[in-house]
Amino acid sequence: MKKKVRITDTILRDAHQSLMATRMRTRDMLPICEKLDQVGFFAIEAWGGATFDVPMRYLNEDPWMRIRTLKEHMPNTPLQMLLRGQNLVGYCHYADDVVEKFVELAAKNGVDIFRIFDALNDIRNMEVPIKAVREAGAHAQGAICYTTSPVHTINKFVEMAKELEKLGCNSICIKDMAGLISPQVAYDLVSALKRETKVPINLHTHCTSGMGPMSCLTACQAGVDIFDTAFSPFSWGTSQPPTETMVASLQGTPYDTGLDLELLVEIGYYFFNLREKYKGLISPVAERPDVSALIHQVPGGMISNLRSQLKEQNAMDKYGEILKETPRVRRDLGYPPLVTPTSQIVGTQATLNVLSGERYKQISQETKDYCRHLYGKPPASIDPEIRKKIIGDEEPITCRPADLIEPQLETLKEKAEALGILKTEEDLLTYALYPAIAPKFLRGEMKEESLPKEESLHTPVADTSTEFEVEVDGETFLVKIKSSGEKTNEKTSPTAQLPTGAVLSPMNGMVLALKVKTGDKVKKGDVVVILEAMKMQTPIHSDHAGTVKEIFTFESEIVSAGDPLLVVN
Ligand code: CO
Repeated sequence: MKKKVRITDTILRDAHQSLMATRMRTRDMLPICEKLDQVGFFAIEAWGGATFDVPMRYLNEDPWMRIRTLKEHMPNTPLQMLLRGQNLVGYCHYADDVVEKFVELAAKNGVDIFRIFDALNDIRNMEVPIKAVREAGAHAQGAICYTTSPVHTINKFVEMAKELEKLGCNSICIKDMAGLISPQVAYDLVSALKRETKVPINLHTHCTSGMGPMSCLTACQAGVDIFDTAFSPFSWGTSQPPTETMVASLQGTPYDTGLDLELLVEIGYYFFNLREKYKGLISPVAERPDVSALIHQVPGGMISNLRSQLKEQNAMDKYGEILKETPRVRRDLGYPPLVTPTSQIVGTQATLNVLSGERYKQISQETKDYCRHLYGKPPASIDPEIRKKIIGDEEPITCRPADLIEPQLETLKEKAEALGILKTEEDLLTYALYPAIAPKFLRGEMKEESLPKEESLHTPVADTSTEFEVEVDGETFLVKIKSSGEKTNEKTSPTAQLPTGAVLSPMNGMVLALKVKTGDKVKKGDVVVILEAMKMQTPIHSDHAGTVKEIFTFESEIVSAGDPLLVVN
Protein backbone atom coordinates (compact mmCIF):
# COMPACT_ATOMS: atom_id res chain seq x y z
CA MET A 1 0.00 0.00 0.00
CA LYS A 2 2.92 2.27 -0.78
CA LYS A 3 1.80 5.53 -2.27
CA LYS A 4 3.32 8.88 -2.95
CA VAL A 5 1.66 11.68 -1.03
CA ARG A 6 1.57 14.96 -2.94
CA ILE A 7 2.12 18.44 -1.52
CA THR A 8 0.45 21.74 -2.38
CA ASP A 9 2.53 24.67 -1.17
CA THR A 10 0.66 27.83 -0.15
CA ILE A 11 3.65 30.18 0.13
CA LEU A 12 2.34 32.54 -2.54
CA ARG A 13 -1.22 32.83 -1.13
CA ASP A 14 -2.51 31.43 2.17
CA ALA A 15 0.83 31.56 4.04
CA HIS A 16 1.31 35.30 3.64
CA GLN A 17 -2.43 35.99 3.85
CA SER A 18 -2.53 34.23 7.24
CA LEU A 19 0.64 35.76 8.68
CA MET A 20 1.07 39.20 7.14
CA ALA A 21 -2.18 40.40 5.62
CA THR A 22 -1.37 39.20 2.08
CA ARG A 23 1.31 41.79 1.45
CA MET A 24 3.95 39.78 -0.49
CA ARG A 25 4.78 41.60 -3.73
CA THR A 26 4.97 39.87 -7.13
CA ARG A 27 8.51 41.16 -7.62
CA ASP A 28 9.51 39.25 -4.46
CA MET A 29 7.99 36.04 -5.81
CA LEU A 30 9.55 36.02 -9.28
CA PRO A 31 13.23 35.43 -8.40
CA ILE A 32 12.39 32.05 -6.80
CA CYS A 33 9.79 30.83 -9.32
CA GLU A 34 12.24 28.87 -11.44
CA LYS A 35 13.32 26.83 -8.40
CA LEU A 36 9.74 26.42 -7.16
CA ASP A 37 8.83 25.08 -10.57
CA GLN A 38 11.46 22.33 -10.27
CA VAL A 39 10.14 20.86 -6.99
CA GLY A 40 7.26 18.80 -8.38
CA PHE A 41 4.47 20.08 -6.15
CA PHE A 42 0.95 18.89 -6.84
CA ALA A 43 0.16 22.61 -7.01
CA ILE A 44 1.28 25.99 -5.80
CA GLU A 45 -1.51 28.08 -4.37
CA ALA A 46 -0.89 31.54 -5.75
CA TRP A 47 -4.16 33.38 -6.22
CA GLY A 48 -7.63 33.98 -4.81
CA GLY A 49 -8.77 34.84 -1.31
CA ALA A 50 -7.33 38.25 -0.52
CA THR A 51 -4.73 38.20 -3.32
CA PHE A 52 -7.22 39.93 -5.58
CA ASP A 53 -8.31 42.78 -3.34
CA VAL A 54 -5.05 43.55 -1.49
CA PRO A 55 -2.68 43.96 -4.47
CA MET A 56 -4.96 46.61 -5.98
CA ARG A 57 -5.79 48.39 -2.76
CA TYR A 58 -2.39 48.43 -1.09
CA LEU A 59 0.31 47.37 -3.56
CA ASN A 60 -0.83 49.09 -6.77
CA GLU A 61 -0.53 45.73 -8.51
CA ASP A 62 -2.89 44.24 -11.06
CA PRO A 63 -3.96 40.82 -9.75
CA TRP A 64 -4.45 39.53 -13.30
CA MET A 65 -0.93 40.56 -14.20
CA ARG A 66 0.35 38.66 -11.13
CA ILE A 67 -1.21 35.32 -12.07
CA ARG A 68 -0.14 35.71 -15.71
CA THR A 69 3.45 36.48 -14.76
CA LEU A 70 3.61 33.64 -12.23
CA LYS A 71 2.33 31.18 -14.83
CA GLU A 72 5.00 32.35 -17.31
CA HIS A 73 7.65 31.75 -14.67
CA MET A 74 6.24 28.40 -13.50
CA PRO A 75 5.00 26.66 -16.66
CA ASN A 76 5.40 23.15 -15.22
CA THR A 77 3.55 23.46 -11.93
CA PRO A 78 -0.25 23.70 -11.67
CA LEU A 79 -1.24 27.01 -10.08
CA GLN A 80 -4.15 26.94 -7.68
CA MET A 81 -6.61 29.62 -6.64
CA LEU A 82 -9.12 29.79 -3.78
CA LEU A 83 -12.59 30.75 -4.97
CA ARG A 84 -15.42 31.64 -2.56
CA GLY A 85 -18.12 29.97 -4.63
CA GLN A 86 -20.68 32.45 -5.89
CA ASN A 87 -18.74 35.22 -4.03
CA LEU A 88 -15.65 34.64 -6.24
CA VAL A 89 -13.00 36.82 -4.57
CA GLY A 90 -15.45 39.42 -3.27
CA TYR A 91 -17.82 39.60 -0.32
CA CYS A 92 -21.29 39.14 -1.83
CA HIS A 93 -23.02 36.87 -4.31
CA TYR A 94 -22.55 37.78 -7.96
CA ALA A 95 -24.78 36.97 -10.91
CA ASP A 96 -24.01 33.79 -12.82
CA ASP A 97 -22.72 35.68 -15.86
CA VAL A 98 -20.06 37.38 -13.70
CA VAL A 99 -19.08 34.04 -12.14
CA GLU A 100 -18.77 32.34 -15.54
CA LYS A 101 -16.72 35.13 -17.09
CA PHE A 102 -14.44 35.39 -14.06
CA VAL A 103 -13.66 31.67 -14.10
CA GLU A 104 -13.07 31.67 -17.85
CA LEU A 105 -10.59 34.55 -17.60
CA ALA A 106 -8.87 33.18 -14.49
CA ALA A 107 -8.23 29.92 -16.34
CA LYS A 108 -7.04 31.80 -19.41
CA ASN A 109 -4.62 33.84 -17.30
CA GLY A 110 -3.01 30.82 -15.67
CA VAL A 111 -5.15 29.23 -12.94
CA ASP A 112 -5.06 25.43 -13.34
CA ILE A 113 -6.81 24.31 -10.15
CA PHE A 114 -9.81 26.08 -8.63
CA ARG A 115 -10.46 25.27 -4.96
CA ILE A 116 -14.11 26.19 -4.54
CA PHE A 117 -15.93 26.56 -1.23
CA ASP A 118 -19.08 28.05 0.24
CA ALA A 119 -19.14 29.47 3.76
CA LEU A 120 -22.35 27.54 4.59
CA ASN A 121 -21.37 24.39 2.67
CA ASP A 122 -24.43 25.11 0.54
CA ILE A 123 -23.67 23.25 -2.66
CA ARG A 124 -26.08 25.39 -4.67
CA ASN A 125 -23.60 28.27 -4.27
CA MET A 126 -20.88 26.08 -5.77
CA GLU A 127 -22.70 24.57 -8.76
CA VAL A 128 -22.18 27.37 -11.28
CA PRO A 129 -18.49 27.94 -10.48
CA ILE A 130 -17.78 24.18 -10.63
CA LYS A 131 -19.49 23.90 -13.99
CA ALA A 132 -17.61 26.95 -15.31
CA VAL A 133 -14.28 25.46 -14.21
CA ARG A 134 -15.05 22.17 -15.93
CA GLU A 135 -16.03 24.03 -19.08
CA ALA A 136 -12.76 25.96 -18.99
CA GLY A 137 -10.97 22.61 -18.96
CA ALA A 138 -9.44 23.26 -15.54
CA HIS A 139 -9.33 21.14 -12.36
CA ALA A 140 -12.30 21.73 -10.04
CA GLN A 141 -11.53 20.97 -6.41
CA GLY A 142 -14.64 21.00 -4.25
CA ALA A 143 -13.92 22.12 -0.69
CA ILE A 144 -15.81 21.19 2.47
CA CYS A 145 -15.55 23.87 5.18
CA TYR A 146 -14.60 21.94 8.30
CA THR A 147 -16.09 23.03 11.59
CA THR A 148 -17.38 21.41 14.78
CA SER A 149 -21.02 21.38 15.95
CA PRO A 150 -23.73 18.83 16.71
CA VAL A 151 -24.79 18.84 13.03
CA HIS A 152 -21.30 18.65 11.53
CA THR A 153 -20.74 14.91 11.57
CA ILE A 154 -18.43 12.76 9.51
CA ASN A 155 -21.51 11.40 7.73
CA LYS A 156 -22.65 14.90 6.75
CA PHE A 157 -19.21 15.77 5.39
CA VAL A 158 -19.12 12.53 3.41
CA GLU A 159 -22.58 13.23 1.98
CA MET A 160 -21.38 16.61 0.82
CA ALA A 161 -18.24 15.11 -0.73
CA LYS A 162 -20.37 12.64 -2.68
CA GLU A 163 -22.50 15.46 -4.05
CA LEU A 164 -19.39 17.39 -5.07
CA GLU A 165 -18.09 14.30 -6.82
CA LYS A 166 -21.42 14.00 -8.65
CA LEU A 167 -21.10 17.60 -9.81
CA GLY A 168 -17.86 16.67 -11.53
CA CYS A 169 -15.24 17.78 -9.00
CA ASN A 170 -11.83 16.32 -9.81
CA SER A 171 -10.79 16.23 -6.15
CA ILE A 172 -12.16 17.02 -2.70
CA CYS A 173 -10.55 19.28 -0.12
CA ILE A 174 -11.15 19.28 3.63
CA LYS A 175 -10.78 23.01 4.27
CA ASP A 176 -9.97 23.49 7.94
CA MET A 177 -9.54 27.26 7.90
CA ALA A 178 -9.42 27.63 11.67
CA GLY A 179 -7.05 24.75 12.43
CA LEU A 180 -9.72 22.88 14.41
CA ILE A 181 -9.27 19.36 13.07
CA SER A 182 -7.68 16.97 15.55
CA PRO A 183 -5.38 14.12 14.49
CA GLN A 184 -8.08 11.54 15.31
CA VAL A 185 -10.82 13.33 13.39
CA ALA A 186 -8.48 13.89 10.45
CA TYR A 187 -7.85 10.13 10.42
CA ASP A 188 -11.55 9.24 10.65
CA LEU A 189 -12.71 11.82 8.12
CA VAL A 190 -10.06 11.01 5.52
CA SER A 191 -10.71 7.26 5.98
CA ALA A 192 -14.43 7.80 5.43
CA LEU A 193 -13.89 10.01 2.37
CA LYS A 194 -11.45 7.51 0.86
CA ARG A 195 -13.97 4.73 1.43
CA GLU A 196 -16.97 6.58 0.03
CA THR A 197 -15.55 8.59 -2.88
CA LYS A 198 -13.21 7.85 -5.77
CA VAL A 199 -11.52 11.23 -6.27
CA PRO A 200 -8.25 12.34 -4.60
CA ILE A 201 -8.60 13.84 -1.11
CA ASN A 202 -6.65 16.94 -0.06
CA LEU A 203 -6.28 18.13 3.55
CA HIS A 204 -5.88 21.86 4.09
CA THR A 205 -5.32 22.86 7.69
CA HIS A 206 -3.67 25.61 9.72
CA CYS A 207 -1.36 25.40 12.75
CA THR A 208 -3.56 27.80 14.75
CA SER A 209 -4.21 25.33 17.58
CA GLY A 210 -0.86 23.60 17.07
CA MET A 211 -2.34 20.29 15.85
CA GLY A 212 -1.78 20.88 12.11
CA PRO A 213 1.35 18.79 11.48
CA MET A 214 -0.01 15.85 13.53
CA SER A 215 -3.30 15.95 11.67
CA CYS A 216 -1.44 15.90 8.35
CA LEU A 217 0.45 12.81 9.51
CA THR A 218 -2.69 10.92 10.57
CA ALA A 219 -4.36 12.01 7.32
CA CYS A 220 -1.46 10.32 5.48
CA GLN A 221 -2.00 7.17 7.53
CA ALA A 222 -5.65 7.24 6.51
CA GLY A 223 -4.76 7.51 2.84
CA VAL A 224 -4.89 11.24 2.05
CA ASP A 225 -3.60 12.00 -1.45
CA ILE A 226 -2.54 15.62 -1.05
CA PHE A 227 -1.96 17.97 1.88
CA ASP A 228 -1.03 21.63 2.10
CA THR A 229 2.14 23.08 3.59
CA ALA A 230 4.08 26.35 3.41
CA PHE A 231 7.82 26.95 3.28
CA SER A 232 9.09 27.11 6.86
CA PRO A 233 9.84 30.87 7.13
CA PHE A 234 6.13 31.54 6.53
CA SER A 235 4.68 28.49 8.32
CA TRP A 236 3.34 27.59 11.81
CA GLY A 237 1.04 29.85 13.79
CA THR A 238 -2.02 30.79 11.77
CA SER A 239 -0.30 29.49 8.60
CA GLN A 240 0.23 25.94 7.28
CA PRO A 241 2.64 23.26 8.58
CA PRO A 242 6.22 23.71 7.29
CA THR A 243 6.96 22.08 3.93
CA GLU A 244 10.53 21.01 4.68
CA THR A 245 9.60 19.49 8.07
CA MET A 246 6.68 17.53 6.69
CA VAL A 247 8.65 16.24 3.70
CA ALA A 248 11.50 15.17 6.01
CA SER A 249 9.07 13.51 8.45
CA LEU A 250 7.60 11.35 5.72
CA GLN A 251 10.88 10.25 4.15
CA GLY A 252 11.29 6.49 4.27
CA THR A 253 7.64 5.93 5.24
CA PRO A 254 4.91 4.57 2.96
CA TYR A 255 3.84 8.22 2.47
CA ASP A 256 7.18 9.54 1.21
CA THR A 257 6.58 12.59 -0.98
CA GLY A 258 9.67 11.91 -3.05
CA LEU A 259 10.53 15.64 -3.03
CA ASP A 260 14.14 16.79 -2.97
CA LEU A 261 14.82 18.07 0.54
CA GLU A 262 18.00 19.85 -0.51
CA LEU A 263 16.13 21.86 -3.11
CA LEU A 264 13.43 22.65 -0.57
CA VAL A 265 16.00 23.90 1.95
CA GLU A 266 17.55 26.09 -0.71
CA ILE A 267 14.16 27.63 -1.54
CA GLY A 268 13.40 27.95 2.17
CA TYR A 269 16.55 30.03 2.52
CA TYR A 270 15.26 32.50 -0.07
CA PHE A 271 12.06 32.95 1.93
CA PHE A 272 14.02 33.19 5.17
CA ASN A 273 15.77 36.26 3.75
CA LEU A 274 12.54 37.63 2.34
CA ARG A 275 10.92 37.30 5.75
CA GLU A 276 13.40 39.86 7.08
CA LYS A 277 11.91 42.42 4.72
CA TYR A 278 8.38 41.73 5.91
CA LYS A 279 8.94 40.94 9.57
CA GLY A 280 7.40 44.24 10.66
CA LEU A 281 4.09 42.91 9.33
CA ILE A 282 4.07 39.66 11.24
CA SER A 283 2.37 39.79 14.62
CA PRO A 284 3.93 37.53 17.28
CA VAL A 285 0.37 36.60 18.32
CA ALA A 286 -0.26 35.06 14.88
CA GLU A 287 2.78 32.84 15.33
CA ARG A 288 1.87 31.26 18.67
CA PRO A 289 -0.32 28.17 18.98
CA ASP A 290 -3.67 29.23 20.43
CA VAL A 291 -5.88 26.42 21.72
CA SER A 292 -8.63 28.77 22.91
CA ALA A 293 -10.14 28.49 19.41
CA LEU A 294 -11.10 24.92 20.26
CA ILE A 295 -12.90 25.98 23.43
CA HIS A 296 -14.73 29.11 22.23
CA GLN A 297 -14.91 27.84 18.65
CA VAL A 298 -13.85 31.31 17.60
CA PRO A 299 -11.02 31.01 15.05
CA GLY A 300 -7.79 32.92 15.59
CA GLY A 301 -8.23 35.42 12.78
CA MET A 302 -11.66 36.27 14.09
CA ILE A 303 -10.36 36.82 17.62
CA SER A 304 -7.92 39.48 16.45
CA ASN A 305 -10.70 41.06 14.43
CA LEU A 306 -13.04 41.08 17.44
CA ARG A 307 -10.38 42.67 19.59
CA SER A 308 -9.76 45.50 17.15
CA GLN A 309 -13.52 46.06 16.80
CA LEU A 310 -13.86 46.28 20.55
CA LYS A 311 -11.00 48.75 20.78
CA GLU A 312 -12.84 50.86 18.21
CA GLN A 313 -15.94 50.64 20.41
CA ASN A 314 -14.02 51.40 23.62
CA ALA A 315 -15.44 48.18 25.00
CA MET A 316 -12.47 45.93 25.68
CA ASP A 317 -13.95 45.21 29.10
CA LYS A 318 -16.72 43.27 27.30
CA TYR A 319 -14.27 41.00 25.48
CA GLY A 320 -14.82 37.92 27.68
CA GLU A 321 -18.58 38.29 27.50
CA ILE A 322 -18.52 38.58 23.69
CA LEU A 323 -16.27 35.54 23.41
CA LYS A 324 -18.98 33.58 25.29
CA GLU A 325 -21.79 35.14 23.26
CA THR A 326 -20.25 34.25 19.88
CA PRO A 327 -20.86 30.46 20.04
CA ARG A 328 -24.39 31.18 21.34
CA VAL A 329 -25.15 33.35 18.30
CA ARG A 330 -23.62 30.69 16.10
CA ARG A 331 -25.94 28.09 17.66
CA ASP A 332 -28.99 30.40 17.28
CA LEU A 333 -28.16 30.85 13.61
CA GLY A 334 -27.85 27.13 12.85
CA TYR A 335 -24.11 26.57 13.36
CA PRO A 336 -22.56 28.24 10.29
CA PRO A 337 -18.87 27.45 9.79
CA LEU A 338 -16.99 30.62 10.75
CA VAL A 339 -15.28 31.81 7.57
CA THR A 340 -15.72 34.90 5.37
CA PRO A 341 -18.43 36.24 5.43
CA THR A 342 -20.24 34.29 8.20
CA SER A 343 -17.44 34.91 10.73
CA GLN A 344 -18.02 38.66 10.45
CA ILE A 345 -21.82 38.33 10.62
CA VAL A 346 -21.75 36.14 13.75
CA GLY A 347 -18.95 38.08 15.47
CA THR A 348 -20.59 41.45 14.93
CA GLN A 349 -24.03 40.21 16.00
CA ALA A 350 -22.51 38.83 19.21
CA THR A 351 -20.89 42.20 19.82
CA LEU A 352 -24.19 44.02 19.22
CA ASN A 353 -25.96 41.63 21.60
CA VAL A 354 -23.51 42.40 24.39
CA LEU A 355 -23.04 46.13 23.79
CA SER A 356 -26.76 46.90 23.55
CA GLY A 357 -27.43 44.98 26.76
CA GLU A 358 -30.19 42.89 25.18
CA ARG A 359 -29.86 40.00 22.76
CA TYR A 360 -31.04 40.84 19.21
CA LYS A 361 -32.17 44.34 20.15
CA GLN A 362 -29.80 45.67 17.49
CA ILE A 363 -29.69 43.51 14.39
CA SER A 364 -27.38 44.06 11.45
CA GLN A 365 -28.72 44.05 7.91
CA GLU A 366 -26.41 41.12 7.18
CA THR A 367 -27.90 39.05 10.03
CA LYS A 368 -31.37 39.73 8.58
CA ASP A 369 -30.24 38.68 5.10
CA TYR A 370 -28.66 35.59 6.61
CA CYS A 371 -32.00 34.66 8.23
CA ARG A 372 -33.73 35.19 4.88
CA HIS A 373 -31.30 32.54 3.56
CA LEU A 374 -29.82 35.06 1.13
CA TYR A 375 -26.37 33.62 1.86
CA GLY A 376 -27.66 30.07 1.46
CA LYS A 377 -29.20 27.45 3.70
CA PRO A 378 -27.74 27.33 7.23
CA PRO A 379 -26.38 23.90 8.29
CA ALA A 380 -29.08 23.54 10.99
CA SER A 381 -32.36 25.42 11.30
CA ILE A 382 -32.30 28.84 12.90
CA ASP A 383 -33.85 28.97 16.37
CA PRO A 384 -37.52 29.81 15.54
CA GLU A 385 -37.91 32.39 18.31
CA ILE A 386 -34.69 34.15 17.33
CA ARG A 387 -35.71 34.08 13.68
CA LYS A 388 -39.03 35.68 14.55
CA LYS A 389 -37.19 38.39 16.46
CA ILE A 390 -34.95 39.05 13.47
CA ILE A 391 -37.26 38.86 10.43
CA GLY A 392 -40.72 38.51 11.98
CA ASP A 393 -43.09 36.33 9.95
CA GLU A 394 -41.14 36.74 6.73
CA GLU A 395 -40.50 33.41 5.01
CA PRO A 396 -36.89 32.66 4.05
CA ILE A 397 -36.21 32.12 0.36
CA THR A 398 -36.05 28.52 -0.82
CA CYS A 399 -34.32 28.99 -4.17
CA ARG A 400 -30.59 29.25 -4.87
CA PRO A 401 -29.67 32.81 -3.75
CA ALA A 402 -28.08 33.74 -7.09
CA ASP A 403 -31.36 32.90 -8.87
CA LEU A 404 -32.58 36.23 -7.53
CA ILE A 405 -29.71 38.17 -9.14
CA GLU A 406 -30.24 39.46 -12.67
CA PRO A 407 -27.31 39.21 -15.12
CA GLN A 408 -24.86 42.02 -14.32
CA LEU A 409 -22.12 42.06 -16.97
CA GLU A 410 -23.82 44.18 -19.64
CA THR A 411 -24.82 46.96 -17.24
CA LEU A 412 -21.38 46.94 -15.65
CA LYS A 413 -19.76 47.13 -19.05
CA GLU A 414 -21.79 50.20 -19.97
CA LYS A 415 -20.89 51.87 -16.69
CA ALA A 416 -17.21 51.03 -16.98
CA GLU A 417 -17.11 52.23 -20.60
CA ALA A 418 -18.72 55.48 -19.56
CA LEU A 419 -15.96 55.85 -16.97
CA GLY A 420 -13.39 55.14 -19.68
CA ILE A 421 -11.54 52.55 -17.60
CA LEU A 422 -11.76 49.43 -19.76
CA LYS A 423 -8.62 48.37 -21.57
CA THR A 424 -9.03 44.60 -21.30
CA GLU A 425 -11.78 42.08 -20.58
CA GLU A 426 -10.10 41.46 -17.23
CA ASP A 427 -10.59 45.13 -16.29
CA LEU A 428 -14.35 44.61 -16.50
CA LEU A 429 -14.16 41.82 -13.91
CA THR A 430 -11.94 43.95 -11.69
CA TYR A 431 -14.63 46.62 -11.87
CA ALA A 432 -17.46 44.12 -11.31
CA LEU A 433 -15.88 42.85 -8.10
CA TYR A 434 -14.51 46.10 -6.66
CA PRO A 435 -16.54 48.96 -8.15
CA ALA A 436 -15.31 51.46 -5.57
CA ILE A 437 -11.56 51.09 -5.96
CA ALA A 438 -11.32 49.72 -9.51
CA PRO A 439 -11.74 53.08 -11.33
CA LYS A 440 -8.99 54.68 -9.23
CA PHE A 441 -6.77 51.65 -9.69
CA LEU A 442 -7.37 51.28 -13.42
CA ARG A 443 -6.61 54.97 -13.96
CA GLY A 444 -3.28 54.44 -12.23
CA GLU A 445 -4.10 56.63 -9.25
CA MET A 446 -3.24 54.10 -6.52
CA LYS A 447 0.06 54.08 -4.70
CA GLU A 448 2.01 51.21 -3.21
CA GLU A 449 2.04 51.41 0.59
CA SER A 450 5.38 51.37 2.33
CA LEU A 451 6.33 48.59 4.73
CA PRO A 452 5.81 49.44 8.40
CA LYS A 453 8.74 49.79 10.74
CA GLU A 454 8.87 46.92 13.16
CA GLU A 455 8.22 48.88 16.35
CA SER A 456 5.16 50.71 15.08
CA LEU A 457 3.36 47.51 14.27
CA HIS A 458 2.88 45.86 17.60
CA THR A 459 1.81 48.96 19.48
CA PRO A 460 -1.93 49.27 19.91
CA VAL A 461 -3.97 51.54 17.67
CA ALA A 462 -2.65 55.09 18.02
CA ASP A 463 -4.54 57.44 20.29
CA THR A 464 -4.28 60.34 17.88
CA SER A 465 -6.77 61.19 15.16
CA THR A 466 -6.65 58.77 12.26
CA GLU A 467 -8.19 58.69 8.83
CA PHE A 468 -9.09 55.65 6.81
CA GLU A 469 -11.31 54.61 3.96
CA VAL A 470 -14.22 52.23 4.32
CA GLU A 471 -16.05 50.63 1.45
CA VAL A 472 -19.78 50.09 1.81
CA ASP A 473 -21.90 48.80 -1.06
CA GLY A 474 -19.27 49.85 -3.55
CA GLU A 475 -18.92 53.40 -2.24
CA THR A 476 -15.85 54.66 -0.47
CA PHE A 477 -16.16 56.93 2.54
CA LEU A 478 -13.31 58.79 4.14
CA VAL A 479 -13.60 58.27 7.87
CA LYS A 480 -11.98 60.34 10.59
CA ILE A 481 -11.70 58.85 14.04
CA LYS A 482 -11.26 61.04 17.08
CA SER A 483 -8.80 59.94 19.75
CA SER A 484 -10.15 57.39 22.18
CA GLY A 485 -9.57 59.88 24.99
CA GLU A 486 -12.06 62.30 23.50
CA LYS A 487 -14.58 59.54 23.00
CA THR A 488 -14.43 58.55 26.65
CA ASN A 489 -15.08 62.13 27.70
CA GLU A 490 -18.09 62.35 25.45
CA LYS A 491 -19.49 59.15 26.80
CA THR A 492 -19.30 60.29 30.40
CA SER A 493 -21.40 63.40 29.76
CA PRO A 494 -24.50 63.05 31.95
CA THR A 495 -27.53 61.84 30.05
CA ALA A 496 -29.64 64.31 32.04
CA GLN A 497 -28.49 67.00 29.62
CA LEU A 498 -29.91 65.14 26.63
CA PRO A 499 -33.09 66.46 25.07
CA THR A 500 -36.13 64.31 25.83
CA GLY A 501 -36.99 61.94 23.03
CA ALA A 502 -33.42 61.70 21.84
CA VAL A 503 -32.46 58.66 19.79
CA LEU A 504 -28.92 57.74 20.80
CA SER A 505 -26.27 55.95 18.84
CA PRO A 506 -25.87 52.52 20.50
CA MET A 507 -22.22 52.26 19.47
CA ASN A 508 -19.33 53.94 17.71
CA GLY A 509 -19.77 53.93 13.96
CA MET A 510 -20.54 55.90 10.85
CA VAL A 511 -23.96 57.24 9.87
CA LEU A 512 -24.53 55.55 6.55
CA ALA A 513 -28.02 56.85 5.85
CA LEU A 514 -30.57 59.15 7.48
CA LYS A 515 -34.00 57.64 6.92
CA VAL A 516 -36.03 60.65 8.13
CA LYS A 517 -36.00 64.44 7.90
CA THR A 518 -37.18 67.11 10.30
CA GLY A 519 -40.96 67.16 10.53
CA ASP A 520 -41.43 63.49 9.56
CA LYS A 521 -43.85 61.45 11.63
CA VAL A 522 -42.45 58.19 12.95
CA LYS A 523 -44.01 55.21 14.64
CA LYS A 524 -42.45 53.27 17.47
CA GLY A 525 -39.90 50.89 15.94
CA ASP A 526 -39.41 52.85 12.68
CA VAL A 527 -35.88 52.89 11.30
CA VAL A 528 -34.49 56.41 11.56
CA VAL A 529 -30.79 55.90 10.87
CA ILE A 530 -28.60 53.19 9.33
CA LEU A 531 -25.33 52.93 11.17
CA GLU A 532 -22.24 51.25 9.76
CA ALA A 533 -20.25 49.67 12.55
CA MET A 534 -17.88 46.72 12.61
CA LYS A 535 -18.28 46.25 8.82
CA MET A 536 -22.02 45.63 9.19
CA GLN A 537 -25.02 47.85 8.64
CA THR A 538 -27.27 48.28 11.64
CA PRO A 539 -30.68 49.96 11.46
CA ILE A 540 -31.39 52.22 14.45
CA HIS A 541 -35.05 52.36 15.49
CA SER A 542 -36.97 55.05 17.30
CA ASP A 543 -38.25 53.54 20.52
CA HIS A 544 -41.27 55.82 20.61
CA ALA A 545 -43.72 57.50 18.24
CA GLY A 546 -43.76 61.23 17.43
CA THR A 547 -42.38 63.86 15.07
CA VAL A 548 -38.72 64.32 14.15
CA LYS A 549 -37.95 67.62 15.87
CA GLU A 550 -34.26 67.99 15.33
CA ILE A 551 -31.43 66.08 13.62
CA PHE A 552 -27.95 66.31 15.08
CA THR A 553 -26.09 64.16 12.60
CA PHE A 554 -25.46 63.87 8.87
CA GLU A 555 -24.60 61.06 6.46
CA SER A 556 -20.99 59.84 6.74
CA GLU A 557 -20.55 61.42 10.19
CA ILE A 558 -18.61 59.36 12.71
CA VAL A 559 -20.56 59.03 15.93
CA SER A 560 -19.75 57.61 19.35
CA ALA A 561 -21.83 55.38 21.58
CA GLY A 562 -24.31 57.57 23.45
CA ASP A 563 -24.26 60.45 20.96
CA PRO A 564 -27.76 61.85 20.31
CA LEU A 565 -28.61 61.35 16.62
CA LEU A 566 -31.99 63.07 16.48
CA VAL A 567 -34.99 63.97 18.59
CA VAL A 568 -38.44 62.44 18.20
CA ASN A 569 -41.31 63.67 20.38
CO1 CO B 1 -6.45 28.42 4.67
